[in-house]
Amino acid sequence: PAPGWTATTDVVVVGSGVAGLTAALRARALVGRVMVVTKAMLDDGSTRWAQGGIAAALGEGDTPEQHLDDTLVAGAGLCDEEAVRVLVTEGPDAVRRLIATGAAFDTTADGEILLTREGGHHRRRIAHAGGDATGAEISRALVAAVRRDPGIEVVEHALVLDLLTDADGHAAGLTLHVMGEGQRDGVGAIRARAVVLATGGMGQIFSATTNPAVSTGDGVALALRAGAEVADLEFVQFHPTVLWLGPDAEGQQPLVSEAVRGEGAHLVDADGVRFMVGQHELAELAPRDIVAKGIMRRMQQTGAEHMYLDGRHFGAEMWEQRFPTILASCRSHGIDPVTELIPVAPAAHYASGGVRTDLRGRTTVPGLYACGEVACTGVHGANRLASNSLLEGLVFAERITADLAAQQAAGELTERTPVAAGTRVVPLPAPEARAEVQRLMTFGAGVLRSAASMRDTAEGLTALAAQAHGRVAEEKPADPRVETWEAANLLLVATALVNAAALREETRGCHWREDFPDRDDAHWRRHLITTLDAVTG
Ligand code: SIN
Repeated sequence: PAPGWTATTDVVVVGSGVAGLTAALRARALVGRVMVVTKAMLDDGSTRWAQGGIAAALGEGDTPEQHLDDTLVAGAGLCDEEAVRVLVTEGPDAVRRLIATGAAFDTTADGEILLTREGGHHRRRIAHAGGDATGAEISRALVAAVRRDPGIEVVEHALVLDLLTDADGHAAGLTLHVMGEGQRDGVGAIRARAVVLATGGMGQIFSATTNPAVSTGDGVALALRAGAEVADLEFVQFHPTVLWLGPDAEGQQPLVSEAVRGEGAHLVDADGVRFMVGQHELAELAPRDIVAKGIMRRMQQTGAEHMYLDGRHFGAEMWEQRFPTILASCRSHGIDPVTELIPVAPAAHYASGGVRTDLRGRTTVPGLYACGEVACTGVHGANRLASNSLLEGLVFAERITADLAAQQAAGELTERTPVAAGTRVVPLPAPEARAEVQRLMTFGAGVLRSAASMRDTAEGLTALAAQAHGRVAEEKPADPRVETWEAANLLLVATALVNAAALREETRGCHWREDFPDRDDAHWRRHLITTLDAVTG
C-alpha cells in the first residue's frame, strides 16, 4: 500500500536498546534531527533483560589487550581482530560516557566500579548495576535521556517494513506500520539521510529463548530484503544456565546469569558431581559454548532433562544483595536458590552474526548502518564472549554517529529522494507459522545439528514459504499486521540461518555439528555471507 503519512528527519534509528538509544542521543548531539522508531515501547527489547553486566578493562591490572585475548579465544578463530581491538580499546571510555548519561553502576563505598567475572574472562571485568539488573538500569538511563530531549521524536508500536532507497541505491528512509499512535497511525514513510538498524536479535526463531517476544529478526530480514549482506548467521549462542521450567516451556525463559557462576556457584548433575571440572581449565567459567556443550553432554549421558546450579553456599544475604532479580525470578517459579539447587538447561540467547558492517557500522547498502545484536561487526566471531554485547552496542553506535558527523562536515550527508514510496509485497504467512518455525528450528537447528536434522527443518520452512506464496497467488494474502510481519521475518531469517548452518561442515564456537564434530581450520576458517538471492533461490 502507499504510505498514508510521511515524515522527514536527518537520521532514523530503528530499535531502542542500548545500541539504538546511544545512536539516537549521539546523532542528536552531532548530526541534527533524529527519529527513533520501535516496535513496542521504548524500554522493550533485550537490553533491559541483561543481567550479568558490561565487560570493559576498567579494573586495576586489567588491560584492553587481555580483554582482546579472551574475546579472540571465545570467538574460535573467526573474530575480526581489528573490530575486537576497537571494542576493547574504546570500551572503557564508552562505559564512562554511559555513566555520565546517568546509568548508575554498583560501586564500592569509595566510588570504585565493582567488577565481577563471567565465562571466558580471565579477570574480573564485568561492571554491573542493581546487582543483576544491569540492562534494566542502562535502559532506564538511556530512555530517560531520550525522553528529555525534545529534538528526538519517538514513534512507538512501529513495525518497520522496508528500506527506501534513492536512484543511486542509497538509503533514503523507510516504510513502517504504526499501530494506534495518533497522527502517525497506519502505514507511513520516514524520509532520512541515513538509517540506523538497531533492532536486536532473533531468539524467537527457537521455542525456548532468553529473548523477549519482540526479538524476531526484523532487522536482518529488512536488510536481506534491501539487498544487504548478512554474515555468521549459523553462530547462535545458547546460554548454558537458563532456568528449566519443564520440557514444554516456550517463549522467553528466565536467565540465571553467568555472574552467579562468576561469584562461585557450581554446576552439578543429579548426583552432585561437578561435571565441568576437568573439562576445561576454567571449569564452570569456560567460554559459554564449552559450558553449554558440557551440560548437553551430561544430559545425554545421564538421560536427564536438565542439570543444576548450586549456589546454596552464598547464603540468603548474598543472594538478596547481589542477585535480587534472579532470586525473585527463581522464587516466583517455586525454587529457592538459598536452600535448593536451581534446575538449568541451555536455551537460545544471542545471535553472534547479523547484518555485515565495517568498523564504522556501515552495511553493504550505502546509508544503511547497523549496530548492536542485529549487526555482525566481527567482534564475536563464532561465539560471543559474555557481556561483550552491551559494550558492542555502545561502542559501535558511537562509531556510526562519528561517521555520520564526518559525512555531514564533508557535505556528504545530503537529503535523499526515495525512488518509490510504496511498500513491497512480501508473502506474509499466517501468524501460526511462528510456532511452526520455532518447532522446526528447535528440533533441527538448535544446540545439536546434523545434515539430516537440518534437511528436515529446511523442508518444513520451504513448505511454510510456499503456503505464504500460495495465498498471494490466490489473492488471499494474510492481513499485514505485527503477527504476520513477524512470522514473515522469522521465516526468512530461519531459512537463511539453516542454509548457512548446513553449509558449515565443522564444529566451531557455538555451531555444533554432530556429523562433523571437529573444527576444520583448513576449510572453514572463513565467514559465510548470505544475501536474499541465496536464501530465496
Ligand atoms: C549473563 O548475565 O549471563 C548474560 C551475559 C551475556 O549474555 O553476555
